[in-house]
Amino acid sequence: MTIRLGDTAPDFVQLSTEGEIRFHDWLGNSWGVLFSHPADFTPVCTTELGTTAKLKAEFEIRNVKVLALSVDPLEKHLRWIDDINDTQNTTVNFPILADADRKVAELYDMIHPNASATLTVRSLFVIDPQKKIRLIITYPASTGRNFAEILRVIDSLQLTDNEKVATPANWQPGDHVVIIPSLQDEAELAARFPQGYDAVRPYLRLTQLN
Ligand code: BEZ
Repeated sequence: MTIRLGDTAPDFVQLSTEGEIRFHDWLGNSWGVLFSHPADFTPVCTTELGTTAKLKAEFEIRNVKVLALSVDPLEKHLRWIDDINDTQNTTVNFPILADADRKVAELYDMIHPNASATLTVRSLFVIDPQKKIRLIITYPASTGRNFAEILRVIDSLQLTDNEKVATPANWQPGDHVVIIPSLQDEAELAARFPQGYDAVRPYLRLTQLN
C-alpha cells in the first residue's frame, strides 16, 4: 500500500512486546512514531532501539508515543530486548511489534523487494493526533537513523501547526523562522509578529519567535 503525507495512518491490530496493540486506540491523542527494523539481533537495530529508549523523556515532552516493528516473532523480540538492555545500558521502554506475519510491514510498505525480499527497510512514519501521516523517512538497512533529526522534524511540525511560519534549512528550535508566503494581510502580520520581521525578499521574511 502506498502511503503519502496527509493520508490517514492505516489502523491495525498486532501483537507486541507490551501486549496486543490496537494502533489508533493505542495512539489516543498522542503523536506517534512507527519505525521498522530489518531484523532482531542485528547490530545497527540494536543501537537504534537503545538510542530510542534513552530518548524517552524527549519523546514524552513532545507528547509522542514510539512503536517499533520487526518481522520476527514475540519470543525472539523478548530475548533481543535483554540483549539491547545489556549492550546499550538502557531499558527498552516502548513496545516492539511482533510482525512475523508481515501484516503491518505490508500495510505500511516497509518491505522493498529490490532492497531485500524478506527484511524491512528502515521506514519511519510520524503520525499526528488526528492520525495523519506527517513525515515519512526511509533509510537503508546499512544506515542507522539520526534520532536528533527525527526530534527536530517533530519540533518543526508542532511549531508550524500552531504558527503561520515554516522552518528554514537546518533550523533548530530557537532559530529564526520564515513567515508563510500566503500571509500577506498587514494587520494580521502585525498582530502575529509584533516583534517585526526582516523581508529579505517579498517571499522570504524572517522572524524570531520567543
Ligand atoms: C543491522 O541492523 O545491523 C543490519 C540489518 C540488516 C542489514 C545490515 C545491518
